[in-house]
Amino acid sequence: MKHSDKPIGIFDSGLGGLTVVRQLRRLLPRERLIYLGDTARVPYGNKSRETIQQFSREDSLFLIRRRVKLVVVACNTSTALALDHLQEKFDCPFIGVVRPGAEAAIRETRNGRIGVIATAATIQSHAYEKEIRKLDRACRIFSSACPLLVPLVEEGWGNIRLTRDIVRHYLRPILARRIDTLILGCTHYPLLKPAIARVVGRRIRLVDSAENCAIAVRQFLGESGKGTAKRSEGKLELFVTDRPFSFSKSAKLFLGNRAPMARQI
Ligand code: DGL
Repeated sequence: MKHSDKPIGIFDSGLGGLTVVRQLRRLLPRERLIYLGDTARVPYGNKSRETIQQFSREDSLFLIRRRVKLVVVACNTSTALALDHLQEKFDCPFIGVVRPGAEAAIRETRNGRIGVIATAATIQSHAYEKEIRKLDRACRIFSSACPLLVPLVEEGWGNIRLTRDIVRHYLRPILARRIDTLILGCTHYPLLKPAIARVVGRRIRLVDSAENCAIAVRQFLGESGKGTAKRSEGKLELFVTDRPFSFSKSAKLFLGNRAPMARQI
């Protein structure tokens, strides 16, 4: 098997993909990671397919030029609307967040009734629905776009009463459909887990797409033999498309510990 010490590239529309980086560092601490947050053009979640494809192409190109061995599309919206497009355009392996999340939901559900919450673009694309139905035609999927949740997380209001009330309001229609599993289909939602868990109670399992994506990356590296042979801890480099100041300040919230200084491209 031929190991590869090339870095793993990760991109997202902004900060949120750092939830995937956090899981990658936990599971694959020796891998070198290069992260690009397209902070100048965030959010993607309310944009058209064409625009999301164009931005995702440009983000990928930046990483591919830095000779990454794999591109992780950490953004749910980019994965939902642009993953196929990227796979067609570039000769490089891509892993997105939707399929790993869909697979995990199918493993978790007992009654075959799965809820999905995500940005408006992700929900309108029906990407989770299509992926789940490819794997298990019998599952029923109920979804809800939750556009207010991203700004609430970025404000640091992940678990205040106001946020829980908004979560409750968004979830009411899908909870009424007796789901037993809920996919958190947006980079920011892992930070809402305590608030969502309080609203939905213990009987509903929460599927974190960031964690499942990192598991899929580990599996890919194992199967392809492309994991690093290095023994030391891998470095993380952060790049952004707008001024790095506020990014660096909020990055800690998503990474769970101190973030290296981001550089603007
Ligand atoms: N990163 C996006 C996602 O996971 C959320 C933020 C945005 O709308 O760009 O869907």
